[in-house]
Amino acid sequence: MNKKIMVTSALPYANGALHLGHLAGAYLPADIYVRYLRLMGRDVLWVCGSDEHGAAITIRAKKEGISPQEIIDKYHALNKETFEKLGISFDYYHRTSALLHHQTSQDLFLKLYRDGDEFEERTIEQYYDEAYGQFLADRYIMGICPKCGHKEAYGDQCENCGTALSPLELIEPRSMLSGNVPVLRPTKHWYFRLDKHAGWLREWIEKGILDGKPHHDPEQWKKHVVGQCLSWLDGGLQPRAITRDLDWGIPVPLPGDEAKGKVLYVWFDAPIGYISSAKQWALENGKDWEAYWKGDDVDLIHFIGKDNIVFHCIVFPAMLKAHGEYALPRNVPANQFLNFEGQKFSKSRGWGIEQHDYLEEFAAFPNKEDALRYALIRNMPENKDADFKWDEFADFYDKELADNLGNFVNRVVVLTEKYFGGYVPDSNADLGEILAEADVLARRLTREVEAFSFKAACQTLMEISSFGNTYLQDAAPWALAKENPDDPRIAECLFASLQMVALLSVLCQPFIPFTSPRIRALLGLEELKNGELADVLSRLDKGEPLLASGVRIGAPEVLFPKIYDRKDTSRLEILDRQKAKLQAIMEQEQSKQRAPFKELVSYEDFAKLDLRTGTILEAEKVPKADKLLKLKVDLGSEQRTIVSGIAEHFDPAKIIGQQVTVVANLAPRTLRGIESQGMILTAENSKGELMFVCPAVPFGNGFMVK
Ligand code: 2FM
Ligand code: ZN
Repeated sequence: MNKKIMVTSALPYANGALHLGHLAGAYLPADIYVRYLRLMGRDVLWVCGSDEHGAAITIRAKKEGISPQEIIDKYHALNKETFEKLGISFDYYHRTSALLHHQTSQDLFLKLYRDGDEFEERTIEQYYDEAYGQFLADRYIMGICPKCGHKEAYGDQCENCGTALSPLELIEPRSMLSGNVPVLRPTKHWYFRLDKHAGWLREWIEKGILDGKPHHDPEQWKKHVVGQCLSWLDGGLQPRAITRDLDWGIPVPLPGDEAKGKVLYVWFDAPIGYISSAKQWALENGKDWEAYWKGDDVDLIHFIGKDNIVFHCIVFPAMLKAHGEYALPRNVPANQFLNFEGQKFSKSRGWGIEQHDYLEEFAAFPNKEDALRYALIRNMPENKDADFKWDEFADFYDKELADNLGNFVNRVVVLTEKYFGGYVPDSNADLGEILAEADVLARRLTREVEAFSFKAACQTLMEISSFGNTYLQDAAPWALAKENPDDPRIAECLFASLQMVALLSVLCQPFIPFTSPRIRALLGLEELKNGELADVLSRLDKGEPLLASGVRIGAPEVLFPKIYDRKDTSRLEILDRQKAKLQAIMEQEQSKQRAPFKELVSYEDFAKLDLRTGTILEAEKVPKADKLLKLKVDLGSEQRTIVSGIAEHFDPAKIIGQQVTVVANLAPRTLRGIESQGMILTAENSKGELMFVCPAVPFGNGFMVK
């Protein structure tokens, strides 16, 4: 059990703020896992940092007219600080623009280049912007998507239809730098021979076997992770270009002109960022980083979102294996995506909420960090996409944090105050059975966390609290006290309940780390230390209490004041503001979709229209006219033939009997040889579907519409 556990979370790009989906994907699950391991006394190192290279950053800098350095400095600082505020407890948060990272990446490149025969050089034709005198990264070229005709597809992907593209496939390509048509020029690049690694990768992913020895249990990997890897392997691995013609990034460390102006591809250097982050941590703390990266006694775990699976399960492992000294990941528990109120997070639409905005907008919300963490854990996209909803946020908070956990802690503290003056009572009762039950649940929670099932583990935490509540309710010390204030069962019940609160103060820490110290302070307990959970579990096994008799506990405190509270609506108002923002976005978008208004008409002109209600009696298609229906409409006093351009929207068989509004005094017109004696009114709904303008209640034909 003295293995070193090396945990990583995907390095976020430092070109924007992170939203709740990012948090739920790669940071919150890792934080739970690492906090748990620390409490179990395990030797774990968790690193992350900013991914500061790549074309997305330079494009953003150009758009804003500032340098890439300014962009990365701003977002590195913002993201690092926001993570801290949310209790994301990295051991080190590094950045890939650091010299140490450049050196580490260049060393790894050179090792593969010189010793490994891992690269091949290819000269390819690439787009070049003559006005700017530079080759264009795929993201710097725009054109028409060959698949869907979208006019602003990028050279690597069409964001309209999602198709992965290469720049040469774009129709009418243009440079995003000058706007000119780029020209093709030959350029040399280095390709990593991923194809050479296909054999062992398949055995490793499918069977968990590495170099002929068992490495990990493939059954413990998530199905969607293995599935995505195998489908890549089935598609055949090709050599991948790992250099780019760009002026932002890590220079290709080869002498001579051939490498001039070329940098390492961002996806080559980013995962090496995990290693350099560990190195920097070791430097600053006088530790040995290699102990966490090399040798058989290392468990490497990558936390990522599902869009990064291939890089972490195929490309980076192949780089590590090619190097020869590094451990390969034991597991890559990638999460799927989190949506927001039924739609994808979208910065441009303002759909979703960024982490730092949440902290600001919920500044007055009690225990806002844990409220958010809890809602995200309870709805974590562990195996399928999930959807974040403010109503669920409120339910998880009120029903679970407030009514269950908060309520239990509060009742126990209040009753201890009431019957024992705030001192943990003395009890000789045998607590074996109660503690054994709590122990069983606590053990289940540990297994769930170790299996990366954080949602389940969080529910188990609540089960322990429910168990406490039920126990307290059944024992009813208040009823016993009425009968006989000296009944020893009162002390017994509160002594046992206090033990359960003490247990919860430890178990809840990985999930809601801001609440844990508050519960401990209420119990007069010290801050948690590494290894505390292992200690607590062994005491439970032996039936030993966690909290000694005679300890003075704190004054009662409401940990989670409820959102739905008739007397204080302030918390509900914070949520309502969020919902109103979304509503406004939807309304604005809908109004944009509506056709522009035509010019004004006078009342006198409008009053000339004679609008009548009617019923469609017959409907049929007009031959050789795709859009026209011939209708017979009953206006009460008479029946009219009306030709209407609605054939693409309505099935004639289904509109017989439909109530409609008719412009009865429209001058007759002949369409396809049929005289049309009026017009049926229709309008588009918010989804762009055509609807009849019809009386809400069928009230007969021929009535004038006013
Ligand atoms: O997808 C992303 O946001 C990348 N910046 C993740 C990099 S993960 C690792 F390789 F560093
Ligand atoms: Zn497209």
